[in-house]
Amino acid sequence: MMNKMQIKTLEEYHEKYALSVSDPEYFWGEIASEFQWVKKWDKVLEWNFTEPDVKWFQGAQLNITENMLDRHLEKRGNKLALIWEPNDPKQRFVRYTYRELYEQVCVFANALKAQGVEKGDRVCIYMPMIPELAISMMACARIGAIHSVIFAGFSANALSDRIEDAQAKLVITTDGLNRGPKQIPLKRVLDEALENNTCVEKVIVYDCLGWFPYMKEGRDIWWADVVAGQEKKCKPEVMNSEDSLFILYTSGSTGKPKGVVHTCGGYMVYTTYSFQNVYQYQESDVFWCTADVGWITGHSYIVYGPLLSGATTVMFEGIPTYPDAGRFWQIIDKYGVNQFLTAPTAIRSLMACGEDHVLSYSLDSLKVIGTVGEPINEEAWKWYYQHIGKGRCPVVDNWWQTETGGIMISGIGNISPMKPTFAGYPLPGIQPVLLNQEGKEIGGPDEEGYLCIKFPWPSILRTTYGDHERCRINYFSHYDGYYFTGDGAKRDENGMYRIIGRIDDVINVSGHRFGTAEIENAINTSNLVVESAVVGYPHPVKGQSIYAFVVCDHEISEENRDFTRGEIIETVAAEIGKIAVPEKIQFVSGLPKTRSGKIMRRILRKIAEGDISNLGDTSTLLDPLVVDEIVENAL
Ligand code: WT7
Repeated sequence: MMNKMQIKTLEEYHEKYALSVSDPEYFWGEIASEFQWVKKWDKVLEWNFTEPDVKWFQGAQLNITENMLDRHLEKRGNKLALIWEPNDPKQRFVRYTYRELYEQVCVFANALKAQGVEKGDRVCIYMPMIPELAISMMACARIGAIHSVIFAGFSANALSDRIEDAQAKLVITTDGLNRGPKQIPLKRVLDEALENNTCVEKVIVYDCLGWFPYMKEGRDIWWADVVAGQEKKCKPEVMNSEDSLFILYTSGSTGKPKGVVHTCGGYMVYTTYSFQNVYQYQESDVFWCTADVGWITGHSYIVYGPLLSGATTVMFEGIPTYPDAGRFWQIIDKYGVNQFLTAPTAIRSLMACGEDHVLSYSLDSLKVIGTVGEPINEEAWKWYYQHIGKGRCPVVDNWWQTETGGIMISGIGNISPMKPTFAGYPLPGIQPVLLNQEGKEIGGPDEEGYLCIKFPWPSILRTTYGDHERCRINYFSHYDGYYFTGDGAKRDENGMYRIIGRIDDVINVSGHRFGTAEIENAINTSNLVVESAVVGYPHPVKGQSIYAFVVCDHEISEENRDFTRGEIIETVAAEIGKIAVPEKIQFVSGLPKTRSGKIMRRILRKIAEGDISNLGDTSTLLDPLVVDEIVENAL
């Protein structure tokens, strides 16, 4: 099974790519035929990028969990599906075979039903990296409920906004979570988030730490109690290909985070296709992606892609530096991991800890190593290639987004050429273009342009939850007929792409995505603050870091500076989460604005980068003197 979809040579890549462009419906129809459908499609693709309206495999019916679980039982019932490595290396790991996972998912699916969850209902999942997180997602998919996983690092306010926007009926959480040497009380954060909530009827709490959290009468129930007595079989709900599978919130350049919606059929086909090709997955391989399931990478390459492929997927509860900076490498040896996927920020922070942590491990099992989430610099790329891949494993740089559902531009195992800092070629079915300011396609090599995609692929986002117009404006209105990524990129003479980074007001901190407006709004909720402007600046480990220029309602003196800074930090932590706290906060008497009141971010970005040689013409500003003051006091 499944080998029809795998490309084995560079020649075959070029052939398949050409076919995917000349006859996309035939190309994707063939790949989709590898799955188990309750009913086949009437039409492979119908689309326009104006509304936008994209439909893949219309008329088809399926349940994605039937393809992840039931389908594998006969041949792989006793094969390991999921290996869970706990935060504490002294604690025992947990393993699930496909049959065990199938049973757990069915049991919990029945439990959700018993709690009144129905097809189309939204279920928010606010959990640590434990198997029950994956089980919860699949149980939702089993009964046709739409899951929305919310990263466990988000604050009560951020959590509350997302639960509210999704109008979730039920939330699944735990008493708390382990993170390196720390424990964090998740249930307490959720309780705060639900204070004024009116949509959530039930909360299921999994006992992770043996704590005794507050349990609200009539609302909160223990996981162990809801699963008690439930059957190990649950008939999969028959879903239409275009029914929603999940919502995942992500930040953009404007307003509050938006709920990106992915649908059943297309997401299933594309996550499997991209997983099997980019990682050249083979039947007995053990695959490990270190991302958190709270982000799209964890959805597509810890849970969906690998399990749809019948692979063994590793899930790790902890962090790369606990108990020491050798933890990743120890886990690779422990389970004989064959394919490994992590983020540049992790690579850079481990690189800074020195080679000694790597040397005691063999890493012999590795075949392909991947990087994802942000541009990787040459030094980190080379360190990864030499010290982790030992010069024998291809490094695949996976460029994609929450909105694209799966990897779009990347190396393909050891098949395609490697070039440090270049993501590489588009996968078959993906048609990227570079546009200039005027929206014209750039043909020649080495020119920088706006990265857009001109044709749909099966896992493109379908809408933003509850607000389709926002989806249109954000992604389809910049350039007529193109999906706009928000990234700038270059292409070399061989057609390989190098991603340069965001060109919109989005900051990528350690692979976490924030809108500058989102952080400014958070800062501005402090009653000490009049206004603020936030920009990103290069950071050696995090990729980018956050620099905030803040105007306060009071004079900042030596005496009150630390207090005010502390207030702002706490406000951002409470509004979004600790991960969004600015590394640098500079108090200023005013912001550089045009006469029409627009903040000149370009100038602030230069100052934050420490490049004040060329600030451009500042004479048109409302108050040019303010720039001198900001430059003088820059951090
Ligand atoms: C943004 C998407 C894709 C899953 C993780 C992040 C940046 C992502 C790469 C890469 C250069 C990358 C882009 C993109 N990005 N991967 N391999 N090289 N940049 O998902 O939170 O949706 O963020 O991350 O800027 O637009 P996300």
